[in-house]
Amino acid sequence: MKKIVFVTGATAGFGKAIAQIFSKNGNDIIINGRRKERLNELEKELRNNGADVLQLPFDVRDKNAVKQAIDSLFGKWKNINILVNNAGLAQGLNLIQDGDIEDWDTMIDTNVKGLLYVSRAVMPLLIKTGNAHVFNIGSIAGKEVYQKGNVYCATKHAVDAITKAMRIDMLEHGIKVTGICPGAAETEFSLVRYKGDAEKAKNVYKGFTPLYAEDIATIVYFAATRPAHVCINDIVITPTAQANAMYIHKV
Ligand SMILES: NC(=O)c1ccc[n+]([C@@H]2O[C@H](COP(=O)([O-])OP(=O)(O)OC[C@H]3O[C@@H](n4cnc5c(N)ncnc54)[C@H](OP(=O)(O)O)[C@@H]3O)[C@@H](O)[C@H]2O)c1
Repeated sequence: MKKIVFVTGATAGFGKAIAQIFSKNGNDIIINGRRKERLNELEKELRNNGADVLQLPFDVRDKNAVKQAIDSLFGKWKNINILVNNAGLAQGLNLIQDGDIEDWDTMIDTNVKGLLYVSRAVMPLLIKTGNAHVFNIGSIAGKEVYQKGNVYCATKHAVDAITKAMRIDMLEHGIKVTGICPGAAETEFSLVRYKGDAEKAKNVYKGFTPLYAEDIATIVYFAATRPAHVCINDIVITPTAQANAMYIHKV
């Protein structure tokens, strides 16, 4: 059955790959992100895959913009079946005493508050649609902490808690809630973390094979297509070369 899938942060990485896989499998997609040109390109691509597409460009940190965008949904687009809370980032990598407070605000505002603003606006629609599913893209950093990861790890631990809480609150509505917790994946993530330093970003993935965005998208699609009575609660996915948040075997 054709579904309406709403993906935040669809202009790159996991979000883009998730939008792609759902579009190739006969679903209609609402795509969000701040970079309008990228949304235009992606819309074309998803339409070529046969999907109907609606762009909702907004910054998840802006609670008024989030509400306005969701309130603007019309017709079938209100009947969202799947929400993928993916927009997020790490900014900076410092010991806590050297941390940049602006970076902390950006991560908390995006990864925690942004996810909450979007969820608050979309969940009443999911309840009306029925048979819905929420995916929260957490991280292995939401299960463990690593040196210099302090605030990013704290935001992803918050996502982990919100995911568990949502599953309880959505129980009576039969809405599935799945936490997706990836390890090291080569997307634009490190480029953003190192504020555009491509050399440093590339080095993160040297000496091992990281995950790719398509690996995560395949898993989200798998979880989304289980029978109605099956809910995958939580998935931690690492590259084979990664044992946990700290240990990566590099050669
Ligand atoms: N890559 C990894 O190793 C890894 C591992 C575990 C978890 N994660 C998590 O996976 C999610 C996706 O990351 P990724 O690896 O795919 O990174 P990415 O390639 O940098 O993509 C991040 C996406 O989030 C969007 N975004 C960021 N801030 C936003 C905002 N304020 N409002 C709206 N959209 C925003 C970006 O779009 P615009 O810039 O166009 O707004 C982009 O589409 C994040 O939550 C990240 O924490 C990543």
